[in-house]
Amino acid sequence: MSATESRVSKGIILAGGSGTRMAPMTSGCNKQLLPVYDKPMVYYPLSALMLAGIQDVLLISSPEEIDRFSSLLGDGSQFGIQISYEVQPRPNGLAQAFVIGSSFIGDDNVALILGDNIFHGNDLATILQRAAANQEGATIFAYEVRDPERYGVIELDEFDNPIAIVEKPIDPQTNLAVPGIYFFDNRVVSIAQSLQPSARGEYEITDVIEHYLQDGTLSVQRFSRGMAWLDTGTPMALLQAGNFIAAIEQRQGLRICCPEEIALRMGFITAEQLAENTANMKSEYGAYLRSITKQFSNNSLAAS
Ligand code: G1P
Repeated sequence: MSATESRVSKGIILAGGSGTRMAPMTSGCNKQLLPVYDKPMVYYPLSALMLAGIQDVLLISSPEEIDRFSSLLGDGSQFGIQISYEVQPRPNGLAQAFVIGSSFIGDDNVALILGDNIFHGNDLATILQRAAANQEGATIFAYEVRDPERYGVIELDEFDNPIAIVEKPIDPQTNLAVPGIYFFDNRVVSIAQSLQPSARGEYEITDVIEHYLQDGTLSVQRFSRGMAWLDTGTPMALLQAGNFIAAIEQRQGLRICCPEEIALRMGFITAEQLAENTANMKSEYGAYLRSITKQFSNNSLAAS
């Protein structure tokens, strides 16, 4: 093995999909580039990976869209991370991410987050960092929803041990959906390579998870009701997600899932670097970044 880290140090953002359910909004641009209030949707999953402590990121998107993502996010150095890019020729399922990303993953463990999943909550960073510290098996999450049939659904026993996982069941046995953020050990690559497509012709993430469930190395953490996992799958859900972010940001004067701020707070970049990067940013977003840079420098000075 190379300089392998047992901690999950790499993350994949899957920002593919044909976006047909959101047309015409997605006819000229990938769904994950649409705004969720004040920032592109992809900033939210990127922020979640960064909060987990991940600094090595692969973004996978369609051949038509990949250049738009790289012009938005570049090499990631402005966030103190590395971002590389790969293409998914056809949207044939989430599990393909591990096959497409196999050379990026190498001998390491890896997290996967879907480009349209938004998380916000009190202990999010701690929860994700704990999952990333897990060295063996897989960690997934469970979240109570009203409409589980739209998601991967997990069944747990009385001790919260997983019993079964089913993709979009017609008759769900529980209301626990599996959100689109997953942490896996390195076996995920060979598991994904050996998968057969499902009845709907896709390489399903739930089939990957099923392997871990069968060999007893699947850990399921429940997100509490205080955690927000927001959907962006329909025009109304997208609007509601934007309204949710706007309501909290307006109330607190803070920004949610702001990768530059997370980079600063996680120590991925210095206040000087952020000041330099934002000096010419004319938007309100830029002004916010300058104000937190100032606060951060003052606090660091006060603490030293
Ligand atoms: C995918 C997964 C599903 C998961 C969901 C979370 O579904 O297949 O298991 O619960 O993401 O967002 P999709 O939204 O791609 O239909």
